[in-house]
Amino acid sequence: MVPSDLEIKDEDIRIFLDAIKVRSNYDFTDYSLKSLKRRITKIINESKMSIAQFENEILTNPEFVEKVVMGITVNTTDLFRDSAIWISLRDEILPRFAHLKKINIWHAGCSTGQEVYSMMILLEEMGLLSKADIYASDINTNVLETAKAGRYRYRFNHAYVDSFDAVINSGKDALNGDKFTPESKYFLIDKVSDSIQMKSFLTSKPVYKKIDLVKDENLFYVKFDLIICRNVIIYFNYDLQNKVFSLFLKNMFNDGCLLLGMHESILGPYSSHFEKKNLAYFKKNVQ
Ligand SMILES: C[S@@+](CC[C@H](N)C(=O)[O-])C[C@H]1O[C@@H](n2cnc3c(N)ncnc32)[C@H](O)[C@@H]1O
Repeated sequence: MVPSDLEIKDEDIRIFLDAIKVRSNYDFTDYSLKSLKRRITKIINESKMSIAQFENEILTNPEFVEKVVMGITVNTTDLFRDSAIWISLRDEILPRFAHLKKINIWHAGCSTGQEVYSMMILLEEMGLLSKADIYASDINTNVLETAKAGRYRYRFNHAYVDSFDAVINSGKDALNGDKFTPESKYFLIDKVSDSIQMKSFLTSKPVYKKIDLVKDENLFYVKFDLIICRNVIIYFNYDLQNKVFSLFLKNMFNDGCLLLGMHESILGPYSSHFEKKNLAYFKKNVQ
C-alpha cells in the first residue's frame, strides 16, 4: 500500500540526520530543524515511502543519501536578488576595493550562480571585472553544474531583464545623455528554446568548487576582499553560524567585507571583529 502524506516527528528527523551523518560526509545536525523538517517531509511524501523504508534506504543506499542531501538544500536564488544590495555594492562597497591590483571575491553558497553573474556584470560595468578573481562554492554539486553552464529557463526567469535594469540602468537619464546598457551585452534570451544564456566571457571566469561550510576549510587557498554568503546561514543554528563566521574571518583581509542576506546578521562573539555599515560587515583592522 502506498502511504498518503505522512506527518513526520522531530525525533524521526533526528534519526534521519544521524543516519545521514553515519553513512555519508554530510552533517545537517546543526541546521535549523524547521526548514529541514519541511524539506525531508516533502522528499518522503514524494518518494511514497514509509518512514521505516526511508530510514532503511538512507542506511543502505549511498546514491539515495546523495539524492536526499541534494533535496534538503534550498536553492532559491535570482539575478540581482534584492536590488538595494547591488546598488550599495556599486555605490559604497566595491569602490573601496577599486584601487587594489586584484580583488578576490568568494560567493559561498552560490546555488545556481545568478548571484555570481550579477556580481560579474556589476564589476564589468564599473570597469573592475578584469582585475577581479571570482570564486564560488556550494555544498550541492547539481547547482554548481548549472552555475558553470550559466543557462537558465526563460519561462521561469523572464523578470531577469527588469532586475538587470533596476540595478545596471538605475539612475540613468536619457535626457542627460546617459547610455543604457542592454542585457544582451551579458546574456542572450532565446524564447523559442526557452533559454537565457550567459555569455562565455562570464561563464569562463569563476573558479567553482564544492565546499561544505559545515566541515570544509577554505579550499580556494586565497584570502578575500569580499565574501558574499547570502541566504545560507539562515538555515544554520547559532553554533554553526559562529563556526562559519570564524572561517570567513580567518580568510578575509583586514578591511575586507562580508555581505550576508537581508534577514541575516552577525550576533554573538564574532560581532566584535566586524564593523557594520548598513548591510555590510567590514573586518576590523588587526595587526
Ligand atoms: C537559498 S540559496 C542562496 C543562494 C544565493 N546565495 C542567494 O542568496 O541568492 C542557499 C544555498 O546554500 C547552499 N548550502 C546549504 N548548506 C550549505 C553548506 N553546508 N555549505 C555550502 N553551501 C550550503 C545550498 O545548497 C544553496 O544553494
